Amino acid sequence: MKIKNICCLGAGYVGGPTMSVIALKCPEIKVTVVDLNEARIAAWNDSNLENLPVYEPGLAEVVEEARGRNLFFSTDVDKAIEEAEMIFIAVNTPTKTYGEGKGMAADLKFVELCARQIARIAKNDKIIVEKSTLPVRTAKTLQTILDHTGNGVNFEVLSNPEFLAEGTAIEDLLNADRVLIGGQQTKSGKNAIQALVDIYAHWLSPKQILTTNVWSSELSKLTANAFLAQRISSINALSALCEATEADVDEVASAIGTDSRIGSKFLKSSVGFGGSCFQKDILNLVYLCRYFNLPEVANYWEQVIILNDYQKYRFAKNIITSLFNTVSGKKIAFLGWAFKKDTNDTRESPAIYVAEHLIEDGAEIHIYDPKVSANQIKADMRYLFELKGLNEVKIEAKLNQIHAYDSYTDAVNQAHAIAILTEWDEFKDYNWEAIYYSMYKPAFIFDGRNILNIEKLTAIGFQIKGIGKGLVRQFYEESVF
Ligand code: NAD
Ligand code: UDX
Repeated sequence: MKIKNICCLGAGYVGGPTMSVIALKCPEIKVTVVDLNEARIAAWNDSNLENLPVYEPGLAEVVEEARGRNLFFSTDVDKAIEEAEMIFIAVNTPTKTYGEGKGMAADLKFVELCARQIARIAKNDKIIVEKSTLPVRTAKTLQTILDHTGNGVNFEVLSNPEFLAEGTAIEDLLNADRVLIGGQQTKSGKNAIQALVDIYAHWLSPKQILTTNVWSSELSKLTANAFLAQRISSINALSALCEATEADVDEVASAIGTDSRIGSKFLKSSVGFGGSCFQKDILNLVYLCRYFNLPEVANYWEQVIILNDYQKYRFAKNIITSLFNTVSGKKIAFLGWAFKKDTNDTRESPAIYVAEHLIEDGAEIHIYDPKVSANQIKADMRYLFELKGLNEVKIEAKLNQIHAYDSYTDAVNQAHAIAILTEWDEFKDYNWEAIYYSMYKPAFIFDGRNILNIEKLTAIGFQIKGIGKGLVRQFYEESVF
């Protein structure tokens, strides 16, 4: 089947960049990305490329080339569905916050709504591509909805999980390690797989395009994220031991990473992993294991999350302990709020949870992030407080302890301590002498990303503490007495 029109439901961090690259590489295909969120679509259509709703290096250039040529952003979902031979579903699949599976299972209501809308609108055969991350066997659910509510047309459901990481999305899409396509092993299933292979073959080689059955593809996505997150929790677990023994976690990571069986990537110890995917997908995996009565498997993977929560808490506690056991009324400057550098995404950012612990101890948090707005920071904290069931009075009181700035010098001025929450490159080049003189003494730095030069900053006069570096107690004793 030759695809001439593609539609993508969901213009978020996955739908936007993924479809932009497909449009760039397949100029003969019309790609329409639709969303229910009018503001988001308006931002994708904004003539000022700085206002795109997703910040990704290289994205603006891709959008500039393809938008209006064969890439379109629209809120007219029905029309886009009607026109397309292939429809990607790239809507959000967050952790459920209510009812059965609350706090664990993936909330598939948005995906289900897409399936029902496609079934209602479609008047000819369509290939439906799962781009969202979904629990294994969701394709069966989609097929059932499509077949029972449709107009008698044929739907082929494919699984094509997305492996891009934020901050490197365009690079990941253009030079993917692999693309995974799962489909039914029937004649029409194989034809659908081939149609999607043909799209990726515009810029990827055949050995980068893997095809499997649907269930393997769906499960591979959850597995990939679980393995990646597990590596971070493993090295973070060791960072606590490093702090107790004077080993250096970066040296340990580099020593084990040279073993080709282990590999060097994803061994950077940090304040904890964040982002919209890792926690959600592992919780989903744990839920699935419990559902299939595999408690030992569930407990094994759940530990990755437990350790990550411990790491965020440990970081905050370390700040409090080092600042003479209280941060009440003290100004703690946060450099970074995004969950990693080169993105404006803050979902599940460790900064949110570190801020929560410090606010609980009475701190005033003063934040600077090069790409995150004050509104977003407040919205993140409000969301957490609401989830915890706090009443409006308490929420407002806690939000008053949060201050966001457009410049880092305002955030750090007269601070008692600085915490690095995101590894933005620009932080390394700040005028640290000037920062030191603008702060209360002793001037503390807690480097949650191990990006700063400890020797250089110690020479300026800072009391600096990285993750998995040096004795915590010794640091405390030296800094206090
Ligand atoms: P997102 O929240 O940024 O975007 C999802 C969009 O879908 C939203 O703009 C929302 O308004 C829209 N939407 C919801 N229901 C809709 C409907 N019925 N019709 C049209 N639009 C609708 O989410 P995201 O980060 O792009 O993630 C999307 C999926 O991709 C998730 O399943 C996620 O797990 C997966 N994923 C995300 C990443 C990542 O790095 N963010 C990477 C790989 C996979
Ligand atoms: C992840 C997966 O990498 C990607 O394949 C999938 O499609 C979506 O989920 P993403 O969450 O965008 O991507 O970013 P990633 O680079 O994986 O980082 C996730 C979190 O782990 C960030 O908070 C990052 O700072 C942290 N991290 C990553 C570490 O703490 N140490 C590392 O060594 C790597």
